Amino acid sequence: MLSTQSSKTARLFFALKPPFKIRVALEKVARKVAVDQGGRSVKPGNIHLTLVFLGDVAMDKINVLHEVAADIAALPFSLSIQGTAYWKKNQIVMAKVEQFPAELFAMADTLKTALNAAGFDCESRQYKPHITLIRKASGHEPVQLEKPIKWDVKGWTLMQSRLTEHGSHYTELGCWSFRTPLKMNH
Ligand code: 2AM
Repeated sequence: MLSTQSSKTARLFFALKPPFKIRVALEKVARKVAVDQGGRSVKPGNIHLTLVFLGDVAMDKINVLHEVAADIAALPFSLSIQGTAYWKKNQIVMAKVEQFPAELFAMADTLKTALNAAGFDCESRQYKPHITLIRKASGHEPVQLEKPIKWDVKGWTLMQSRLTEHGSHYTELGCWSFRTPLKMNH
């Protein structure tokens, strides 16, 4: 197995991971489009939407990440996937989501703020939610699904990314559910 990082750190990110059925359906679309149009489709196990990317984190800090995540209260929401779209700069084909809801941006923001307060460095790039379906796509003709895929997002996960000889491999280190914030009585 190839390894580009010290065993004392792990490459981590928080993400939304679609349920198995949705990942399989998306991979089927990705595989067909990649055969027709080129590029490398993402394996179903790797299909995700990043919330916050942390990069290399000391392994002994993972328990702190669990504590931070357990304190987050955020509202559930749904995503409607209509087809495919192209992100030319990154040369990727993404799932075309009708509209990313305000709850998603609020969640990513809340999580990032809590992580910063706990001393973690998060990437400062502008947050552009996306679900990559195909990498190394030199062009793309968008595809419309006959029936949109509705994804009721019920929780989020902490993922570890490992580089193996077969490409990136993601492992789930924890998962949490969305919930309504508790009302504070002043
Ligand atoms: P991608 O590789 O599927 O494009 C580390 O780069 C992680 O953050 C990956 O999951 C990557 O998704 C995602 N990512 C890259 N650029 C991003 C951006 N501007 N906003 C949100 N996530 C991003």
